[in-house]
Amino acid sequence: MNDRFLRALRRQPVDRTPIWLMRQAGRYLPEYRSIRAKVKDFMRLCKTPDLAAEVTLQPLQRFPLDAAIIFSDILTIPEAMGMELQFVENEGPQFSRPIRSLADVRALIIPDIQEKLDYVMAAIRLVRQELKHRTPLIGFSGSPWTLATYMIEGGSSKTFSVIKKWLFSEPSGLHTLLNLLAQLVAEYLSAQITAGAQAVMVFDTWGGVLTPQEYAAFSLHYMTQIVSTLKAQHADVPIILFTKNGGQWLEIIAQSGCDAIGIDWTTNLGQARSRVGHAVALQGNMDPAVLYAPAERIEREVQAILSSYGQGTGHIFNLGHGVQLDTPPENVAVLVEAVHHLSHQVPEPME
Ligand code: CP3
Repeated sequence: MNDRFLRALRRQPVDRTPIWLMRQAGRYLPEYRSIRAKVKDFMRLCKTPDLAAEVTLQPLQRFPLDAAIIFSDILTIPEAMGMELQFVENEGPQFSRPIRSLADVRALIIPDIQEKLDYVMAAIRLVRQELKHRTPLIGFSGSPWTLATYMIEGGSSKTFSVIKKWLFSEPSGLHTLLNLLAQLVAEYLSAQITAGAQAVMVFDTWGGVLTPQEYAAFSLHYMTQIVSTLKAQHADVPIILFTKNGGQWLEIIAQSGCDAIGIDWTTNLGQARSRVGHAVALQGNMDPAVLYAPAERIEREVQAILSSYGQGTGHIFNLGHGVQLDTPPENVAVLVEAVHHLSHQVPEPME
């Protein structure tokens, strides 16, 4: 079994740096676009386990990646809470009736996650059957804060003015929502682990728009709650926390009890490593835009990132955010190959 991804997460010795990519399945792959041409509704794709499983495996058939990530979306939870969701082409996700008051929070359905999101668990079981022990499978969720931004803003936002207005004028109502989401996210990730996910990742895409004080109280606090709940139930399953633009908060994120922190390209990987010491592994952090460059430039960037991290385990190569939809797949092949070739290292002595 290829377990170098799980070993690196646990900071155990590895033969080379493992690599997988956020959004490794998606529209940059022609085979994904051909499935999407048949299934026009994105959520329908997520809700059809054999198709979700097929799409999960597409990038692994093309590239020798060290992990698969279940194909789904973070907005499955709000949808299960009764919020009507649409993906509008080129505009991203939209909720028809965003949450605007405490009364709206109280009107949300508290779903039975196992039952309502069984389609995700079914896809996980299918992928595990296919993969056997070839490659580990990652489960994921959005962070409570990031889910709340979509639920309250109604979709993607540039200013986050609606949720921030709420945060600064009526924080207790927002905390009620975040508490509820933290419980559901923990339940959701736990169900994914039971279904076969071998590591889980929390995407806090929008935590980085907060002040340091509000980040701690409105995002990290709830992710820490999720980590504690999961560790009590599944002590051995590694947890990755990823706050985009969260580079300045690595020390406090490391104290959450997570096993690894995802970092984006605005943080220097080597400096990040010296700041967190042996507390956690690090995942990242190439700028996805490097994948537009010629092969030599991609290879140079891979070398720079590997050198920045330095010798020893605890690094999982990834991008600092998802693969862009106009990325040439050949360049992803160059990247994966470069990480394979350039990261061979003398294994550290076994502990
Ligand atoms: O990484 C993977 O390969 C797993 C699949 C995955 C998707 N979404 C598939 C997807 C994951 C991990 C996500 C997480 C997700 N979804 C996040 C957090 C990570 C991040 O990117 O910041 C967020 C914020 C969302 C919400 C979301 N879903 C948005 C904003 C969009 C539209 C963006 C776009 O590119 O159009 C989606 C839709 C979505 N989720 C797509 C995919 C492949 C594109 C839908 C399509 O096929 O048209």
